[in-house]
Amino acid sequence: MRAPVFATANGLLTTDPLTNYLAAPAGHPDTTPFGISMLERIEAAPKDAILGLGEAFKADPRSEKINLSVGVYQDEHGKTPLLECVKEAERRLAANPTTKSYLPISGLPEYCKATAELAFGAGNEPLVSKRVAWAQTPGGTGALRVSADFIAANLPNSTVWMSEPTWPNHPQIFNAAGIATKTYPYFDAPNNSLNLAGMLAAIEKMAAGDVILLHGCCHNPTGIDPTAAEWKQIADAVFARGVMPLLDFAYQGFGDGLEEDAVGLKAFSRPGAELMVCSSYSKNFGLYRERVGALFVVTSTAAAAASVQTQIDKVIRSNYSNPPAHGGEVVATILRDPELRKQWEGEVTTMRNRINDMRHALVEALAAQGVPGDYSFMTRQRGMFSFSGLTKEQVEALRSEYAIYIVGSGRINVAGLTPANIERVAQCIGEVVGQTVAK
Ligand code: LMR
Repeated sequence: MRAPVFATANGLLTTDPLTNYLAAPAGHPDTTPFGISMLERIEAAPKDAILGLGEAFKADPRSEKINLSVGVYQDEHGKTPLLECVKEAERRLAANPTTKSYLPISGLPEYCKATAELAFGAGNEPLVSKRVAWAQTPGGTGALRVSADFIAANLPNSTVWMSEPTWPNHPQIFNAAGIATKTYPYFDAPNNSLNLAGMLAAIEKMAAGDVILLHGCCHNPTGIDPTAAEWKQIADAVFARGVMPLLDFAYQGFGDGLEEDAVGLKAFSRPGAELMVCSSYSKNFGLYRERVGALFVVTSTAAAAASVQTQIDKVIRSNYSNPPAHGGEVVATILRDPELRKQWEGEVTTMRNRINDMRHALVEALAAQGVPGDYSFMTRQRGMFSFSGLTKEQVEALRSEYAIYIVGSGRINVAGLTPANIERVAQCIGEVVGQTVAK
């Protein structure tokens, strides 16, 4: 057999990679002991705008550090709890192990049915009419990526429109699938409210066949949601334009309640109407690391749903083949057992109430510290996040000078505030706002 020939960029050509390497000028970027490098020149990617902060927080040696960046719920002791209903479901599953064989490509059928009923409401017309194709996915992010791959394969000319601002991972997910993205106005900064007029005007200019990505509730990062009447106006405009709604529904139960938070989804769930929903159970079941989500694609007929199901299965098969089982089994066990479900609803209520208490407490603490400005708008925001209005410089000063981590957009994870840290957070916000005002 002939020995392989290795070439280096400086013209050396021998059959011995080590000879080439040693003969190359010191520090030559193209050579390794094994020949020309394909990887040496790859530049480091920037850290993730949210998860990168979590890593930086872990590495920060300061004992007074406070993490209000990544959207993870913490209890009043600063711990992310394992829900009691989850513990009980896991006990039951462990007591009755069945198999570790593969799940179907679209996941556990009973999970898909139970989560679809949670999102749409049991007895909702698209479910009854069998107009829904679905899949259990690895988290809400997995659902978004499957929806992106599905769009790329089946609606290849569609642009996906997303709110300005939005979760920083949204454009990355759709761009990674080769889909063009654009933004529509969402946030009315001077009034800390929804820019409904701007949004509706943008929808009118979207091309028929485009997709509009909406946050089903608890908008991330602003915490500003449309009212029921505004959702209806938005749905009217979207359907009138021939645009496909895609709802990212990651925080059901964290705004006003499990049913109340589905008001936007239900505004789109009309007879014969098409829509896509990406759900996550990371937050409301506290199952972050189990990666539990679902994609629902509502078609206009049962026959179309059957075809779409095959296309969803196709994109999943060439991605992760079929989903991990454990988290889905936990969620299905809880949702299908009346006693566990009641316990879960109580635990969601506890988390929601604590977040809302902290929202009010932060506004009071900022006022008590005499921080310039009116922060009462924070009490009108919903879900885990508060869009504080803090500037990039103020966010950076909070991190570098006071070891308080919030997202660069000024997004505060209210669910990370506790009675023990809230006063210091308000005081430090006061310091950075004061420094800026004084300049
Ligand atoms: C967030 O927005 O902080 C969460 O959705 C976590 C994540 O994956 O970014």
